[in-house]
Amino acid sequence: MDLYEYQAKDLFAAHGVPVLPGSVANNAEEARAEAERLGGKVVIKAQVKTGGRGKAGGVKLADGPDEAEEKANAILGLDIKGHIVHRVLVAAASDIAEEYYFSFLLDRANRTFLAMASAEGGVEIEQLAVERPEALAKVPVDPINGVDKAKATEILKAGNFPAEVVDEAADVVVKLWETFVAEDATLVEVNPLVRDPQDKIIALDGKVTLDENAAFRQAGHAELVDKQAEDPLEAKAKAKDLNYVKLDGQVGIIGNGAGLVMSTLDVVAYAGEKHGGVKPANFLDIGGGASAEVMAAGLDVILHDSDVKSVFVNVFGGITACDAVATGIVEALKILGDEASKPLVVRLDGNNVEEGRRILAEANHPLVTVVDTMDNAADRAAELASSASEGA
Ligand SMILES: Nc1ncnc2c1ncn2[C@@H]1O[C@H](COP(=O)(O)OP(=O)(O)O)[C@@H](O)[C@H]1O
Ligand SMILES: [Mg+2]
Repeated sequence: MDLYEYQAKDLFAAHGVPVLPGSVANNAEEARAEAERLGGKVVIKAQVKTGGRGKAGGVKLADGPDEAEEKANAILGLDIKGHIVHRVLVAAASDIAEEYYFSFLLDRANRTFLAMASAEGGVEIEQLAVERPEALAKVPVDPINGVDKAKATEILKAGNFPAEVVDEAADVVVKLWETFVAEDATLVEVNPLVRDPQDKIIALDGKVTLDENAAFRQAGHAELVDKQAEDPLEAKAKAKDLNYVKLDGQVGIIGNGAGLVMSTLDVVAYAGEKHGGVKPANFLDIGGGASAEVMAAGLDVILHDSDVKSVFVNVFGGITACDAVATGIVEALKILGDEASKPLVVRLDGNNVEEGRRILAEANHPLVTVVDTMDNAADRAAELASSASEGA
């Protein structure tokens, strides 16, 4: 889960990383009030989960409350790379002597953690990494040893931080590492980390990604979820413990096992090309135990997606045999009753397939078509979605 800057700032503050005072505002009046409270110059910053806000006109200085209100009005509602601004952070403005870059991240390829540091921050770091990679230090961090002051100093020196700031910046880096570990983050990025004219080191921007696999031991993280921005179908699926991702097509997909579902998406996208370009509407893996309840929960989510015109249930029976899955489908349709209103194409194969097909044939549900192969089933599901879309 990616955090908003204001949330990252709160986490930083809680772990002793120096940040400037300020808080989030939902409208221009709140921005004015916060500017009054802070006094002096402030910055108004768009709160969207994407970078490059400065360049897009989403970060503006204001002299006082009047200007804060005016600038907030200008920023609220902006579209920054497809993200609409609903809130702004109002923070004290800092004079800046130098801007640096610093981050900790999970380096999946090398199975370790990585620190990245550069004395040339503020700019788009991706560009720096491409054009002058030598200016961006990348230092592996051993998860057992972590980052103490000596390690922090080593990283900052590698990033060419000026000698006179290394000592103070190293203290900040140790606290950023503490944040990274304590919050189970996979990314903590500060760009820019600045030196002000009094040589104080401050985190002026913050980007944090939290590892959702650690949610069980991070009770406080639940309240960081942006309920407003959450897709209602994804929220429903999450509440039912389903592995669901909403996509933008018309063919609902249910399968057992992530690999099978991934290849089902491919096969449906390919088949869809012959049927007016219909595409998969979602990823949904119901996992190993495809019980009636899980099947019903999955169908419940997919059938309530108004984009879905047909559903492809693609199951390979293993430990959970095809007859159990077939019974699951039949029972799920009973549970859903009239709410099941879109055609279902079912392909079963694997353990006990004959019995599974017999159960579906016997149930003879008007919405269900059983197709023998994955390719033919994908074709049929795409065709049904295409004709339903035309009819609509
Ligand atoms: N509190 C602040 N005081 C003064 N300048 C700021 C402040 N916050 C940001 N800036 C300036 O705006 C630039 C862009 O802001 P930043 O928070 O990094 O947004 P983004 O990375 O999305 O463009 C920074 O590089 C810095 O120069
Ligand atoms: Mg930035």
